[in-house]
Amino acid sequence: MLSPDFDYLRRIEARTSPAALLSEAKFLDAQTLFFSVVESLKGSVDFEIADMREVHAVAALGDVKGLKVLDVGCGSTEEYVLEDTFRDRYPPFFAEMLARRGADVTGTDIRPNPKAGYRHLTLDCTKENWMKSFRAPYDIIACLNIFNAPKSPFEHDASLCDRIMDDMRSVLSPDGILIVTLRDDFFAGSSKKKAQDYVASKHFKLLHLDGNCAWLKSV
Ligand SMILES: C[S@@+](CC[C@H](N)C(=O)[O-])C[C@H]1O[C@@H](n2cnc3c(N)ncnc32)[C@H](O)[C@@H]1O
Repeated sequence: MLSPDFDYLRRIEARTSPAALLSEAKFLDAQTLFFSVVESLKGSVDFEIADMREVHAVAALGDVKGLKVLDVGCGSTEEYVLEDTFRDRYPPFFAEMLARRGADVTGTDIRPNPKAGYRHLTLDCTKENWMKSFRAPYDIIACLNIFNAPKSPFEHDASLCDRIMDDMRSVLSPDGILIVTLRDDFFAGSSKKKAQDYVASKHFKLLHLDGNCAWLKSV
């Protein structure tokens, strides 16, 4: 049964000092897992671990054994093929972490990933029929750092992001959760209202909003 610990995410968001993380057993477990994945993928970490959404998401999701996960734009250890965007490598940390926690993970990316420790599908999600080989429904769908990626096909194409939101909703289980980084233009002001209105217009209920990252359930 999927029941993310939103109290944990709220505590993490509200923390006043980095030391507060050390009392969070879930964080410490997820951090250990994260570093072992980084080591085996020969990745590097440019961010503060305390700010890594993937690590906190894994901590909040808890027991994912046997759950079906889809990670859209999951990343790859392969070089980039795209010219002007997504220049960094972005290994598939989230997909690998959930696979190691026993989830049944499918990751999709425009780049292949022959060394994936999960089922990797090389797909271009800007194409209409990109979902035809999916094994729906999914308990958890992640789409992280795609719609807000600078100079990407997504950044200035709201209708493309809308269509992909619809596509993801169509393969999400009725009790499932979509974790998605929303487009930056929803956060131009200080209010969260634009983001809330947007997710409602796409037939989702907002369960939690962490910066520009929304945890959603379909309605
Ligand atoms: C900014 S990275 C994010 C990777 C991962 N989700 C994360 O948060 O670390 C964006 C990813 O989207 C992939 N990507 C770019 N365009 C894509 C497309 N049209 N279809 C599928 N994946 C795409 C890139 O190869 C890259 O792995």
